[in-house]
Parts: sequence; structure tokens; C-alpha cells
Amino acid sequence: MAASAVDFQVDADVALITLDNPPVNALSQAARSGLLSALRAALTDTRVRAIVLRGKGRAFSAGADVTEFGTAPQRPHLPELTEAIERSDKFVVAALHGSALGGGFEIALASHYRIAARDAKVGLPEVRLGLMPGAGGTQRLPRLIGAAQALQWITSGDSVEAARALEAGAIDEIAEGDLAAAALAAARRLVARGGAPRRTGDLAAPPIDDAAWSAVEGAVAKKQRHLLAPRLCADAIRAAVSLPFAQGLQRERQLFLELPASPQAAALRHAFLGEREATKAPGLPEGVASRPIVRVAVIGAGTMGGGIAMAFANAGFPVTLIEADATALDRGRNIIRDNYAASVARGGLAQAEMDRRMERIVPTLSFNDAAGADLIVEAVFEDLEVKRKVFKQLDRIARQGAIFATNTSYLSVTSIAGFTRRPQDVVGMHFFSPANVMRLLENVRTARTAPDVIATVMQIGKSLGKVAVLVGDGDGFVGNRMLAQRTREAYFLLEEGSTPQQIDRVLTDFGFAMGPFAVGDLAGLDIGWRNRNARAHLRKAAVRDCDLLDQVCALGRFGQKTGAGWYRYEKGSRTPIADPAIEQLIVEHSRRSGIERRPISDDEILERCLYSMINEGARILQEGVAARPVDVDMVWLHGYGFPAWRGGPMFHADRVGLAEVHAAILKWKERFGPDFWTPAPMLAELAATGRGFYPRSVTSPEITC
Ligand code: NAI
Repeated sequence: MAASAVDFQVDADVALITLDNPPVNALSQAARSGLLSALRAALTDTRVRAIVLRGKGRAFSAGADVTEFGTAPQRPHLPELTEAIERSDKFVVAALHGSALGGGFEIALASHYRIAARDAKVGLPEVRLGLMPGAGGTQRLPRLIGAAQALQWITSGDSVEAARALEAGAIDEIAEGDLAAAALAAARRLVARGGAPRRTGDLAAPPIDDAAWSAVEGAVAKKQRHLLAPRLCADAIRAAVSLPFAQGLQRERQLFLELPASPQAAALRHAFLGEREATKAPGLPEGVASRPIVRVAVIGAGTMGGGIAMAFANAGFPVTLIEADATALDRGRNIIRDNYAASVARGGLAQAEMDRRMERIVPTLSFNDAAGADLIVEAVFEDLEVKRKVFKQLDRIARQGAIFATNTSYLSVTSIAGFTRRPQDVVGMHFFSPANVMRLLENVRTARTAPDVIATVMQIGKSLGKVAVLVGDGDGFVGNRMLAQRTREAYFLLEEGSTPQQIDRVLTDFGFAMGPFAVGDLAGLDIGWRNRNARAHLRKAAVRDCDLLDQVCALGRFGQKTGAGWYRYEKGSRTPIADPAIEQLIVEHSRRSGIERRPISDDEILERCLYSMINEGARILQEGVAARPVDVDMVWLHGYGFPAWRGGPMFHADRVGLAEVHAAILKWKERFGPDFWTPAPMLAELAATGRGFYPRSVTSPEITC
């Protein structure tokens, strides 16, 4: 028999049930029902004494079908399938390769024996979508590997390699040769041994190891304190230990059903789908081919150039790293080496792989070495004159058709393109620091950038493992332009009566990993200070400005690297400590500026910091600097630590309701004047007509399973 998405064959006495639902054998309704029918066929086929479940193509199964998100669930549901597998009187062997994740791993856990290829990875990543395993995963995994370890696996959502899964007891065997042959052999061994299948649900769950449990629970409470799903996962795992299996499954079901309709799950689903959406550049003509990129050159071996060179080398590109200054080149190369060595020391990178990556980066002081590059990324000082010289030189030596990218943070890419005779080949590639780690890449198009250049840099983003978002040219592009609004309000709040620690606490309570002042201290306050000085000529005398950053930097307090910034730091520690000297400086500044300090509520801080950004986000959309709200949200999730479970600033604004956001902006306008608080026309219009940046279907939670 053949069912769609599933193939059924009998090899003498063993049924081979093969999931065939490319690309990753997602458990769509067709796959679930196909598996169930194939299982029934195997159970009634008198030739069959055992069953092997496997996946065709590159994975056993990567889990749920994302295209079914947000649609009404169709039977059979996954728990029906896992229960049928576990109850089978014939031995069921799961043969795992590639990924066996989420529902895919739950099917394996319900099988009677698990054999895996060495490259296989297992895991239950549901928490990343604000969900929990709902097909027995929280009940079966603790029975195999213990409650504390199951809590760690399930709340982290991490994938676990086959060798570790074997050691933990989550799988039974690693197949060294042909997986299908080894799985058939295992099935026949089980038949020969006789007896009833070993059902995971029948195993007694080992008692909780209190110390190990508390350690994981403590980490969850700290790192995931805002999240509902990990908390419910912990409840379900406790049930696995304290209740009989059938009741445990019921408890899991009950808890599971609370999640798909939760606001967090809707936001995380948006974050997940948005990442894919953003990389599909809007407005490109159909079928534009990318230019082939083989050789890359990076100009400037400073903070960004070094990180960018690493990002390319990590993805396998040969990189020529070009500097004007021999000392800077040496320093840059040493930093790259130290960064890789630290990964090797931590166990995250093999020495041989570090050597290969180092070999790919060829440092040079000769500009002519850029001549053969297909893509040249400029990361020299943020100074238009310096950039002009670099681009004029590149224009002379680079081959025709090479792409010129600038990593500028604020300068006009259009102006930079104008330094060359080939503006169609010039684009912005705005990486974030550290460039080898941060996932965001703002690709900046000008009015003249050629479509195939845009297609190429979007494709390169993918090759580097980044989330590439296409944005338009303009001061600060999307991310830094919105950030400037928040930064300004944070300084104003300081001089009106708040403190760095209060503002940071409000924003971390909201869900940011760090507050703006702690981030400033980490990045180095001198960066923002230099930038502020460079842009001093743009400030209008009549418009309010706060120079607290200048005052802090004038004291030589540049943040963690100098032991003090907005906070002070004990030697060797990165923990910010509130500093009375800074409070005194701020209070004194308020007095001198004639500002009467007042108690500032947490709500005011949050509104002014967030709504100023959201208003700017609306202008950015209106001007077309970002084509879609999802682009703005992805910039903030991947470049600025906006909490994924809130979906991004524009998604969050819809959640709050644009009428409410608009009313608050008008309130601040009334109080502080129109300079910074005039509502963006798009925001005003959406609010007046009861709409959001997104259609309601995106922002409102829906039951999905
Ligand atoms: P940096 O000062 O650390 O490095 C700049 C490097 O360029 C120096 O090593 C310098 O010797 C070299 N250089 C200067 N003129 C050169 C020339 N004519 N030819 C070759 N090399 C030359 O600066 P950073 O922080 O790496 O910034 C570089 C660019 O990246 C700037 O445009 C900046 O706005 C941008 N950027 C910086 C970020 C950050 O967090 N630091 C984040 C995103 C973008």
C-alpha cells in the first residue's frame, strides 16, 4: 500500500515504513495519517514480525510542519500516532539520521528501540516556539534519561548529538555502517530474543535527583524567567515522576493546550516565520540571479573588519584582509587568532578547523591584493573622507563586476557609491559587533544598486548564517535610527530624575537581555561619544540635547574596558555596580541645567523608551526604508536583543494596540513639545482606523494543535 508522504515495503519479515515528505519529513497531516495507515497495515500483515520507521532524504524528521502553524488541527493528532506506535505488539525500531527533532523525536521515543547514524541529532526544540512537546515527550524522555537531564534538554530546546544521546540513554545504538541494514538487523534481533516489546511508557521513571534538578531549574528561572513554556515543561516532567504514565500523559496534554494560544507562542511563531520572510528580499524582479562570489576582500582589520573576516572564513570563503597600518594589521590578526583559540579552549572548535580558518584569512598591506576579489567589504574608520579615498582606490583596481560593500553605521551609502564610477555595484553590508557572532546583517540598497547585487548580498547573508534584512539608505538605516530615539529618551529620563540602574532594570524586566547603559559600558562609551562628536554639527541649537555622555567620557570612563562607565566594575568582573559618583554627576547636571528632578515611574520609562522607537519605526515604513514591519522586527530581534517572545517592536505595538500607543505619543507631545513626539502619519492613520502594522491574523494567538 502507498499513502502520500509515506512509503511502505516489506523486507521478508520486517516492514519498512519510510517517511517521504521533502525537504525534512515534516509531520504534516498527510505524513501523520500516512504513518498511521502504514503502521496498521504492518500490524495486520501476517508476514511482518517487526517494523522499522525511517526517513528518506536528509532527515528522519525535523518535527512539526510550519505551514500548518495557525491553522485548525486535523486528525490524526501526533499523540494518537505515538500511542499507536508504543502499543504495537510488533517490535518498532526507529532508525534516525540527520535531524530527529520535536515530533520526530517523540515518534522515536515511542518506538521500542532507537538506532541512530553517527551524524544524527535528536532534541525537543518546542520551547523555542513557546510550546512544549505534546506527544508524550515530557513523559517518555525522563523515563529514559532521568528527570533533571530531560528538564535540561527540553527547556533548552538544544539538539543533542547521537553519541551524547547514546551515553544519556535516549537511544540504544549507533549504526556505524548502513543505517537501514543495521536497523533491520536490530529488528530481527529483537524478534529472535522474543518477549513483549519494551515500551518506554512502562518503564519506571527514576526518582528526581534533587541537586541536579535544582541546578537546571535555577538556570531556567534566571535565563528564561519571562517564559511560560519552560515552566510548564517542568510541571509536566514532574508529573512523569509522580504520576502513572497514563495520568502523566493527560497532565502533559492539559499543560500543552495552554500554550499554542498564548501570546508568547504567537510572538515566537512570528519570530520564527519572520526570520525566513525577511531573507526573501521584497521588490526584486523575479528570477534575478546572484553574482558568483568566490574570493572576498575585507578592508580594515579593526573591530569590525576582523569580525567580518572571521564570519566569511567560518563559512569557507578565502578572505584577503587589507590594512593601511602594519601595527593595526598585526593587532587585528592576533585578535582573530585569540578569538579562535578561545573557542578551541572552550571545546567549541577543533584545533584543525581553527587552523583551516586562519589559513583562509590572508593579511596584507597591499591594496592591489583586492584586485581579484568578487566581493570587497570596507570597514575602515567612520569618516567620509577616509572612505572616499578607499573607494576611489578600489574603483581603480577592482575587477569589473566586483561588488563593493560598505559597513558604515551612519554615512550615506549613496554618497559612498558616488565616489566610484560604478554605483550600481555598491551596497551597504552593515554587520553588528561582534560580526562573527551577531546574526543581523542590514543590507543597504541605494536607488542605484543593481538588482543582482542585492540578490547576491542577500544570498551571502544566508551563506554566512546571518539574518539578512534589506533596508534603504538613510541616516542609521533601520536599527541605529530607531535606537537613537531610545538612547535620547534614556538620557532625558536621567536628567529628569531617573538613574541608569532604574532604566536598565525596566528594560530587562521588559525582556531585553541587557539595559541600554549596561550595553553602552560593554560596547565602550567612546564609540557613541565619537559618533556624537562627529554628528555635533547636525544638532539644532533650539532643540533639547543632553550631554551626559560627554561628561562621563570626559572623565575617562569608557565602560568595562576602563573599569567604569555608567557603572563601576570590580577588577576582573563584568557585573555592573551602581556608582554614587555617577548619580552625583547626574544630579549636579540636572541642577545646572535648571531641570527639577522628580520621581519617574517605571511605566513612563518603558513608554518613552519603546514608543519613541515605534514611532520612528512607522516613519521608516512610511518612507520605505524598510519595506515591511517584519523587516523592522527582525532587525530588532537579531541585532539589538529585543525579546523574541514579544515578537519585535512593531509586533509589540500591535499587541498593545496602536490607538493606545498613539494616545501615549500625543500625551508626551503635549508635555515635551513636537520635536520628538509628533506621531508618524502612518501610525496616526492606522490608529484612527483601528488597524495594526500587521493583519490581525498575525498578532492574535490561535490554537494550532
Ligand atoms: P576600528 O577603528 O576598530 O577599525 C578601523 C580600521 O580601519 C583600523 O584598523 C584602521 O587602521 C583601518 N583603516 C583606516 N583607514 C584605512 C585605509 N585607508 N585602508 C585600510 N585600512 C584602513 O573601527 P570599527 O569599529 O571596526 O569600524 C569600522 C566601520 O564599521 C566604521 O564604518 C563603523 O561605523 C562601522 N561599524 C562599527 C561597529 C562597531 O560596533 N564598532 C558596528 C557596525 C559598523
